[in-house]
This record gives sequence, C-alpha cells and structure tokens, in this order.
Amino acid sequence: MARGKLITFEGGEGAGKSTQARLLAERLRAEGVGAVLTREPGGSAFAEQVRALILGPSTADRGALAEALLFSAARADHLERTIRPALEAGQWVICDRFSDSTRVYQGVAGGLPKAVIEALERLVVAETAPDVTVVLDLPAADGLARARSRSEPGGPGGRGSDADAFEGRPLSYHERLRDGFLMIATAEPERCVVIDALQPEAEVAQQVWAAIVARGLRQGG
Ligand SMILES: Nc1ncnc2c1ncn2[C@@H]1O[C@H](COP(=O)(O)OP(=O)(O)O)[C@@H](O)[C@H]1O
Ligand SMILES: [Mg+2]
Repeated sequence: MARGKLITFEGGEGAGKSTQARLLAERLRAEGVGAVLTREPGGSAFAEQVRALILGPSTADRGALAEALLFSAARADHLERTIRPALEAGQWVICDRFSDSTRVYQGVAGGLPKAVIEALERLVVAETAPDVTVVLDLPAADGLARARSRSEPGGPGGRGSDADAFEGRPLSYHERLRDGFLMIATAEPERCVVIDALQPEAEVAQQVWAAIVARGLRQGG
C-alpha cells in the first residue's frame, strides 16, 4: 500500500484555510481517494483538549515558549494518533494549519529563536514533513475582516475554530504573520505554493488542485 500524502493549509486568520481544506478533501473523496480532514491545534482527543486551553480567552496571557511547547505536545499526539496511521494506511491527510504556523506565530511573530523552533520541529514532526503546503495569502486586514464575519459558532470553518486568542492582536502582528508565511514559501518552493486568497473560493480551489497535479501527486482534470 502506497503511503498517503500530507497536505497542509497555512496562512493568517480568515485566509480560507478551513474552507479550502474541506474542498480538497471533498475533491479527493469524489475521485475515490481516502482523505482524512484534520486541523491544528487538535486532530486527536488529547490535542483537542490542548486546543481548548490554547485558544481559550482566559489563558491568552502566556509566553511564546510555553505556547510553542503546548502546540508541539498537541502536534506530537496528533501525528502519533491520527496523521501517521492514516498515511500508513494509504489515506491522504488534509491538515488545516501545521508546523509552519508554529514557525510563524511563535517564531517570526512571537520572537522565539529559529534554533528553538527547528529543534522542536525535528523532534516532533521528524520525517513527517508535508508533501505540499498551500499558503493562502491576503492582506492581514482583509483576512481579519473575513474572520470576524464568520457566522458559525464553532467547529471546523466556524468561528472559534481558529486562533481566537490570536485574533485580537494588533494588525502589525498579523502583517508579520503574513510575511512569515511568505518567507517560508520562498525558502521552500518545492513544498510550498502561494495562492492569492482574495480570489473567489472556486478559483482558489482550482489552483490548489493544480499545485497537487503539478507535483505529480494526482492527474489533472
Ligand atoms: N475565497 C474566498 N472569498 C471570500 N470569502 C471567503 C473565501 N474563502 C473563505 N471565505 C470566507 O471567509 C471566512 C473565513 O474563511 P475560513 O475558511 O474560515 O478561513 P480560515 O480557516 O483561514 O480562518 C468564512 O466566512 C468563509 O466563508
Ligand atoms: Mg479556520
């Protein structure tokens, strides 16, 4: 059985990560490919508990190292319980946020040294690097406006599904996040594709698919 592929969606608040992750999983399933749709923080029972702690407004005051360690603990469990077993069973895993979010939120914007982030990633992600990372890019103000207009009360795609403890930080912080994701994409062009997230949903979805086809992971169409 061929190992499945790990596809991650990254970008700022309201970029359309949850929307596009769902659309990709649906497209794969329509083609007969087993696809697991998951998210970070979360994606396993323990990691979802950590998620509630990290995104809960009452615990918003903490340092970047503590945050990075918590995200890493959640990711370790998510990888062990959900991601690696699915990949080994030949399923594709579509993940709404992953290790690039830690690089950017706790590293670039949070100020943790690159060496710390890299050490955590080596330990936790190890060989399970994403096959493709989609960076959904748009001005921070547009993303925040979209995030704030989300109507659903929770669950993937809904309000509360993203980094609520982060949403209220200043615009300059969110602009640093955007730059951080773009820097990663520039440094790792084989893995990453940057897509203009201001385009209509269907157009973004087409470009996501084209990126997967371009890497030889699926046939075009
Ligand atoms: N391409 C798009 N154009 C306009 N609105 C979009 C687009 N993609 C998503 N949205 C809307 O923007 C909001 C945020 O999308 P979402 O997928 O939850 O973003 P994220 O998960 O990146 O925070 C939702 O209300 C969603 O319906
Ligand atoms: Mg989301």
